Amino acid sequence: MATEASEVSKLDVEPGELPEAMAAWVIRPDREGEPTDAFKLEEIEVHKPGAFEVIVRVMAAGVNFNNVWAALGRPVSVFNYGDHAEWGHHIGGSDASGIVWKVGEGVTKWEPGDEVVIHCNQASYEDVEVHGLDPLAAPSQMIWGYETTWGSFAQFTKVQAQQLLPKPPNLSWVESSAYGLTYFTAYRMLVDRCKIQAGHNVLIWGAAGGLGVFATQLCAAAGANAVGVVSSDEKGELVKRLGAVDFINRNEFAGMMRRGGESPEEEKERFKVSRGFAKRVKEILGDSPEIVFEHVGQATFPTSVLVAKPFGKVVICGATSGYSLDFDVRYLWMRQKEILGSHFANAYECTRANQLMAEGKIRPVLWQAMGFDGVPGAHQLLHENKHLGKISIMVGVTDSDEGKQSEGPGAIWAEVGT
Ligand SMILES: NC(=O)c1ccc[n+]([C@@H]2O[C@H](COP(=O)([O-])OP(=O)(O)OC[C@H]3O[C@@H](n4cnc5c(N)ncnc54)[C@H](OP(=O)(O)O)[C@@H]3O)[C@@H](O)[C@H]2O)c1
Repeated sequence: MATEASEVSKLDVEPGELPEAMAAWVIRPDREGEPTDAFKLEEIEVHKPGAFEVIVRVMAAGVNFNNVWAALGRPVSVFNYGDHAEWGHHIGGSDASGIVWKVGEGVTKWEPGDEVVIHCNQASYEDVEVHGLDPLAAPSQMIWGYETTWGSFAQFTKVQAQQLLPKPPNLSWVESSAYGLTYFTAYRMLVDRCKIQAGHNVLIWGAAGGLGVFATQLCAAAGANAVGVVSSDEKGELVKRLGAVDFINRNEFAGMMRRGGESPEEEKERFKVSRGFAKRVKEILGDSPEIVFEHVGQATFPTSVLVAKPFGKVVICGATSGYSLDFDVRYLWMRQKEILGSHFANAYECTRANQLMAEGKIRPVLWQAMGFDGVPGAHQLLHENKHLGKISIMVGVTDSDEGKQSEGPGAIWAEVGT
């Protein structure tokens, strides 16, 4: 079994048959820290599938911010939850495209050889919430490859059968490997949590980032008007290409960012800049946004609450800049706005969103396909906000075009500038 990163695309077993060991990028409790130090290539035993589980050969894996947190061990170490205590290792990776290699007892919909994309939500089928409310409400709910080990930065990954979706035939392995986590999250935020409608106005933070590129495309597909916030004009051009009405370069409004611990005078100044920003948003969209798409957190949240239209919604799924949020609540209650939490998506939402990919209505946006040895460096780039879009890691493939089987729009390859 290959533990050389350059050898991982070679296998000497056929679908249905598992090797004893595989190459995997592994984080261990004693080396949490900078991504370039935390990830190490190791030879790990290949897990056998349990009931309703599937072992997938990873063809390509998508890089997400969650495994930056996993590497750093912040804000909570992943070793505090999920199945990590059982195995003592974290094999990260919450996005992948691949081939079903072996199915466990009870799996009837999938068989060895099937080509799939994996969504990252897991929950026990024994939890009642899964059957009547939403799997995201289940006490057992976990994000595969973050809260669990056996993620996609390895030759094989272990998933629940309900996580599998058909790979869109119009996309290569690389193109289909890196959209699931962010796209399905953005889909739930806008479609199911905010009930986006044609004509809605939407403000999208980080619009050229992992979530933002899909939020922007979903707005365009729904007939909603989006303005994207970005940190460079090059990123802004991408956002317009994805269907936004226009973009705002946040460097023009740097003073609106909440740092925490400001004096009352500094707060007053910050508020003034936020008002100027709200005015610009209104000029671009013709009105204040009914929906504010949030994931930046501490730095932007006070502005998000201010800028939303009366009765509008601020939907939030993350907090890159800090998770202790404070804001002037008068703008919430007096204008009857809502704050909605949102977390990933259920299998039904993932399936509907994936269909839009297969129809070419939403397209993956990729910056780079890296070899298997790129896992630590790719996460370091994300950590330092030096990435220019989504990164795919080639595992079972050596060429980013492999796997496309039908005509139709593929990914948008974007070099969007810093
Ligand atoms: N709960 C969930 O299910 C879920 C799912 C996906 C992601 N998330 C979380 O959501 C966050 C974003 O994920 P992502 O994949 O979109 O990350 P990403 O690719 O890094 O994009 C985030 C964008 O936010 C902008 N940004 C970063 N810091 C900022 C700041 N201080 N002020 C304003 N804008 C800032 C940056 O764009 P500019 O520099 O161009 O402004 C960046 O490109 C992460 O914290 C992630 O963990 C949660």
